[in-house]
Amino acid sequence: MPTTPAIEAINLVKRFGDKVAVDDVSFVVPQGSVLGLLGPNGAGKTTIVRMMTTLSIPTSGTARVAGHDVIREPDAVRRSMGLTGQAATVDELLTGQENLRMIGRLYGLSSRDMKRIADELLQRFSLTDAADKVVKDYSGGMRRRLDLAVSLVAVPPVLFLDEPTTGLDPRSRLELWDVLRQLVRDGTTLLLTTQYLEEADRLADEIVVIDHGKVIAAGTALQLKDSSGQAALVVTVSHADDLPSAAELLRSHVSDVHVDESARQLTAPATGLSDMTRIASVFEGSTIEIDDLGLKRPSLDDVFLALTGHRAEADDTAAGTATDDSTEVSA
Ligand SMILES: Nc1ncnc2c1ncn2[C@@H]1O[C@H](COP(=O)(O)OP(=O)(O)OP(=O)(O)O)[C@@H](O)[C@H]1O
Ligand SMILES: [Mg+2]
Repeated sequence: MPTTPAIEAINLVKRFGDKVAVDDVSFVVPQGSVLGLLGPNGAGKTTIVRMMTTLSIPTSGTARVAGHDVIREPDAVRRSMGLTGQAATVDELLTGQENLRMIGRLYGLSSRDMKRIADELLQRFSLTDAADKVVKDYSGGMRRRLDLAVSLVAVPPVLFLDEPTTGLDPRSRLELWDVLRQLVRDGTTLLLTTQYLEEADRLADEIVVIDHGKVIAAGTALQLKDSSGQAALVVTVSHADDLPSAAELLRSHVSDVHVDESARQLTAPATGLSDMTRIASVFEGSTIEIDDLGLKRPSLDDVFLALTGHRAEADDTAAGTATDDSTEVSA
């Protein structure tokens, strides 16, 4: 029996003056799955999340969360979702513990439930020791974790996370991924935005790639990797001195051989395993010693480069800063 999708974006458009920040974006997120909205700075990710969470009104198109229309039924949408924004939402002058309790009060939880939930969340996000410190004195990573803890005070059926792991150290990032996987196992549907390819790769069931406000690709990580970019044959020679002769040998069998001196590697496009076995025997019949021979699938980074002509994680600060938006709605 078909169930209502947890989230649907339907031809969403958002203009700021002449600027089209979101340009006809549509996607569907089935219940209990994870959608990764992947895109570089300024792609339109936050703007999409803001429209889907009723914080900003679409110029045209609409979205549904748990079956409720964000324009016609904003209250019902808000009741079925949680949101952790990109900018911190916690109160600086309160302690971690107090922030969590304040949110609990907003949700109408009893103080007993609230204490239990706050303690659990503080522990889950390794904040127990910092529970009674004011947030002003937290590190960036601790704030980020508290932000997430706050969004989980009342576990909503649909959770929106805007760049949840930006600013986290690698260990906290892994911990957070575990927490998120657990939430999804418990039935939450998750939409997260990210600039990190690895995050989308590891966490998302489906990835929607956004660039300049448009959907430029969508599918599972595997589908995206298969659809663009070709697998590469990678030969690592044991001795750097052998690189030129190894390159020459390889060039007599395949075209487009690329030499990476620092990695002692040769790379060439490959179509499949048969290429690899053929090249293995070529090297076996030579005096060149090799450390490794393998086929490398394109990474999501390669995919992104092939789709857009630029890297997703490029450190560009070209994205403008947000200015006044007359259609903003206060939360
Ligand atoms: N309130 C606003 N007024 C004018 N332009 C805006 C506003 N909000 C966003 N924009 C513009 O819309 C585009 C998309 O911005 P958005 O913040 O959605 O991108 P993003 O993908 O979330 O980027 P980042 O990864 O840096 O968070 C950008 O060019 C941005 O400058
Ligand atoms: Mg953003």
